[in-house]
Amino acid sequence: MEEDKLKIGLLGLGVVGSGVPMILKEHAEKIAQVTGMDISVKTALVRDENEKARQAEKFDIELTTDIDDILNDAEIQVVVELMGKVEPAKTYIEEALKRGKHVVTANKDLLAQHGGKLVQLAQENHCDLYYEASVAGGIPILRTIANSLAADNINKILGIVNGTTNYMLTKMVSEGLSYETALSQAQALGFAESDPTNDVDGIDAAYKMIILSQFGFGMNINLDMVTIKGIRGLPIEDVKMAARLGYEIKLIGSAEKQGDSIYTEVGPMLVKREHPLAAVRDEFNAVFIDSSGVGESMYYGPGAGAKPTATSVVSDIITIAKNLRLGTTGHMFNSYKHKTKITPDNQVMAKYYLSLEAADQEGQFLKLAQIMTDANVGFDQLVQNQEKNESQTARIVVITHTVSKEQMAEVIKNIKATSGFKLLNVMKVLGD
Ligand SMILES: NC(=O)c1ccc[n+]([C@@H]2O[C@H](COP(=O)([O-])OP(=O)(O)OC[C@H]3O[C@@H](n4cnc5c(N)ncnc54)[C@H](OP(=O)(O)O)[C@@H]3O)[C@@H](O)[C@H]2O)c1
Repeated sequence: MEEDKLKIGLLGLGVVGSGVPMILKEHAEKIAQVTGMDISVKTALVRDENEKARQAEKFDIELTTDIDDILNDAEIQVVVELMGKVEPAKTYIEEALKRGKHVVTANKDLLAQHGGKLVQLAQENHCDLYYEASVAGGIPILRTIANSLAADNINKILGIVNGTTNYMLTKMVSEGLSYETALSQAQALGFAESDPTNDVDGIDAAYKMIILSQFGFGMNINLDMVTIKGIRGLPIEDVKMAARLGYEIKLIGSAEKQGDSIYTEVGPMLVKREHPLAAVRDEFNAVFIDSSGVGESMYYGPGAGAKPTATSVVSDIITIAKNLRLGTTGHMFNSYKHKTKITPDNQVMAKYYLSLEAADQEGQFLKLAQIMTDANVGFDQLVQNQEKNESQTARIVVITHTVSKEQMAEVIKNIKATSGFKLLNVMKVLGD
């Protein structure tokens, strides 16, 4: 039987874009068998045709610099957007959906900010919209949550979902590198962009947590509802102190349900060395899920890279191909919906790590103990670094009992208002 043909319009022939025709070619036999279709990229939108001529020839792709060549081509049924950034990607995707074309994208910036509207537009036009590669690149996490965990009740999602910062933190922990040196190394290896803001300030991880929260809890949250702290300027002293106490510092995205509300945050957190997330090293990603039925499960793998990410993109294309054959296109990637509600600060519970500098005066410990007692905050550990620095201050580290975010805010406010103390860092400590 002759296979049906499925033609793709590819927007962007960069790192991931180039990986798509490669995967389609390398795994052509299996893809044809599971879909019953001959899938190929017909046209790619590029900015400079000369620059991409060699790739086009290798994979027998037509190049264009005019989006209308793809949007107006009736033979192209699927548009794959791999340009990145919000515009013009958003406009092109909207136009494709309005013309009845199915869409695949890996664009987390776009989905985290405009996902709800794009999903609605896809529905109105009875089109598929898939974006597996937008979270954790090669790890098939969205489809796992939407399909394999559909019967389960997810309580908590913890993710190491930014490879750049995980690489940097691994170097800081294992080689004692400073933040600045770790960043330069990540840039030299191509893990970090020349402007690393979105990575080191936690924004990229927050985008991914917004998408994960939508899949895990059915809630549509936006960036303003996520508490975000990055690792910019993280002092190596805290990394070393955390190690002394048996923890690794990781940039963790956390989305946790309490009753019918969730709390989503991104920040450097102390993870017990025995926790599976502590073993996620270098540029790797992992998503750890706590759910009522399965219990604890972790999904680990490459969060970026041409082949891993393109493999996720092609898995979305395969899903569309199967839907086309079965006549089942137009269903949402994730159909779980729940009223969006954010847990108030007085109910967000955690242990905290605080590091501060205290002037070498009598009664400093007593003052600190008083501040914590006033906020009803107890502590598990209190460590003082014996060596005094040049300014004759001592470095003190406290790990608190489990307290509310509201209580912690009071402690922070009072430490800042008390003379002789300088608050250096506050980080959450993940539950054991
Ligand atoms: N890289 C990864 O491992 C990874 C992992 C997960 C998700 N993603 C997501 O995948 C998407 C693509 O990432 P990438 O790493 O492949 O980026 P990239 O290497 O920068 O590729 C983007 C390509 O799109 C082209 N482009 C941008 N705007 C265009 C426009 N208006 N018209 C035509 N072409 C345009 C760029 O052309 P120029 O070369 O001329 O600039 C470039 O070739 C992003 O949304 C990213 O967040 C990437």
